[in-house]
Amino acid sequence: MVHHRTGFGSLLTCLATALAVLAGGAWATDEPGEQQVHLGVATCASSTCHGRVEAAEDSPVALNEYFIWSKYDSHANAFEVLKDEWSQRIAANMGLENAASAEACLVCHTDYVPARQRGERFHLSDGIGCESCHGGAETWIDSHYGPDTSHADNLRQGMAPTEEPLFQARMCQSCHLGDDERQITHEMMAAGHPRLRFELDTWLANMPPHHVVDADYSRRKNDAGSVERWVASNLAASEEYLSRLADHIGRNSLSPELSLFDCHACHRPMDTGIRRSAGERRLIQAGSLRPNDHALRMLGIIVELRDPDLAQVIRRGNRSLHAAAAQTASDFRSRAMQLRENVALAAELFRGQRLSADDRHSLETTLLQRAADGWFRDYADAEQLFLGLQSLAAQVPTTTSRRYDALFRLLDDEQAFEPGKVAAEAGRLLRESR
Ligand code: HEC
Ligand code: HEC
Ligand code: HEC
Ligand code: HEC
Repeated sequence: MVHHRTGFGSLLTCLATALAVLAGGAWATDEPGEQQVHLGVATCASSTCHGRVEAAEDSPVALNEYFIWSKYDSHANAFEVLKDEWSQRIAANMGLENAASAEACLVCHTDYVPARQRGERFHLSDGIGCESCHGGAETWIDSHYGPDTSHADNLRQGMAPTEEPLFQARMCQSCHLGDDERQITHEMMAAGHPRLRFELDTWLANMPPHHVVDADYSRRKNDAGSVERWVASNLAASEEYLSRLADHIGRNSLSPELSLFDCHACHRPMDTGIRRSAGERRLIQAGSLRPNDHALRMLGIIVELRDPDLAQVIRRGNRSLHAAAAQTASDFRSRAMQLRENVALAAELFRGQRLSADDRHSLETTLLQRAADGWFRDYADAEQLFLGLQSLAAQVPTTTSRRYDALFRLLDDEQAFEPGKVAAEAGRLLRESR
């Protein structure tokens, strides 16, 4: 699967160098696995448990998960990163004494559960351990490996449903985009933190896999595909974005938290002539300070597949949100909450669904059409366009991800990004596929 995304490593590196509080575990507090004690990585890691070097032949799971995590997965190193020079510079720029003891950093770079949920063998210095994602093991450690224990039993005992796309999306993005408890502020980014971007399917493909999807896996778990993950990713990011916007506005602070807005709305050269296409005028008012709404706009396209009217409502809601940004805070807030309800309706439309080959083909065509119309205007938009097309290519039988190489190259230089070229390339791809 990773080979579909070969180009992506360089995108990660190139972007990292460009622009460059807590209640529960790594996700929203009402999720499963959120109240239990976290026993610590050492509890999972023994050689008779998940600490084998070679994958086991005699067990449904590979049992070398700890080995893969500790040797290849950067989550294992997430705490150590806070001690390096880069982190120390960020900390110094922010006036923090030490990144490795600053809550502002620990919330995302460790399994930062409250002290009462830290077991005897739990160490923050283990970084993002098994229980950051799978939930505190207190209630299921003893039962989860029994020969008669099903996955459903484990879920009932409080293990997190890490195979379920919407759960995955919310869980991973709680750190990879932030949530109300973990925030990557504009100050952190201006101090040197990489700009956070996320798309579930690609990030999952880039995480060294410690599970094997085979017939046995599919029997035990309902494994979703790339497209379902891509849809879930945009649903979850839209939800989170609207909640955070509404919450932020509710605080009535004088200066807005700039990380909630589109970075490239401010950070770009001014002298590029008339950038706006006719289609775009219908989407966003000229010169408005644009919230960072790329997931929501992607959702407005995705939902067309199942409910064109709802897609229209979402798009209009988003546009009216932009217009409201110049009006009263309470107006803005209520529009954001209204839009969130429509996102919830969209989530219902896609809940537990597998998308057919026709669905995927239709999504791909719509996406290219909108892109050719100039709907993907900023760098962060074009990035999500590329990631979406990649996820679709992983599952559309007639498409290979190579097809998007030219589009990918347009993302090489964030500073010299030209939206017109993205529209032209999308138009070319569209004609080619007809
Ligand atoms: C909202 C969660 C969040 C917060 C808060 C956060 N980080 Fe990060 N940080 C991340 C994620 C996610 C990445 C990986 C980004 C990627 O590659 O997509 C990262 C990457 C980094 C990197 C680059 C590591 C590398 O090797 O590429 C450094 C350095 C870093 N963070 C330091 C800090 C410091 C210092 C703080 C506190 C001031 C902090 N982070 C706060 C989530 C966060
Ligand atoms: C960053 C999040 C994350 C971390 C950290 C993590 N996992 Fe996972 N794990 C996942 C995801 C995602 C899957 C794939 C979906 C699934 O089957 O639940 C998975 C799958 C698994 C599976 C299921 C394999 C199967 O065939 O059913 C096991 C077992 C597992 N992880 C154990 C571990 C252990 C042990 C650790 C710590 C050494 C760990 N995980 C750390 C996210 C994580
Ligand atoms: C508790 C917070 C947290 C959670 C939950 C989390 N991550 Fe991460 N992730 C990070 C941080 C912090 C880093 C950067 C670590 C470093 O560079 O040392 C990172 C790094 C990564 C990287 C490497 C990025 C790069 O630039 O090389 C990938 C891929 C990734 N995460 C995918 C995922 C996926 C997929 C999930 C959900 C299954 C997930 N993460 C869940 C915090 C988290
Ligand atoms: C509303 C406008 C606005 C938005 C939106 C915005 N910024 Fe900024 N940014 C600024 C201003 C103003 C400065 C300070 C410029 C200076 O110091 O010269 C700044 C500074 C920075 C710097 C430090 C630049 C330097 O030379 O020191 C970085 C990095 C940065 N922003 C990244 C981001 C990222 C990433 C985003 C999106 C998540 C973002 N900004 C969103 C206005 C914005």
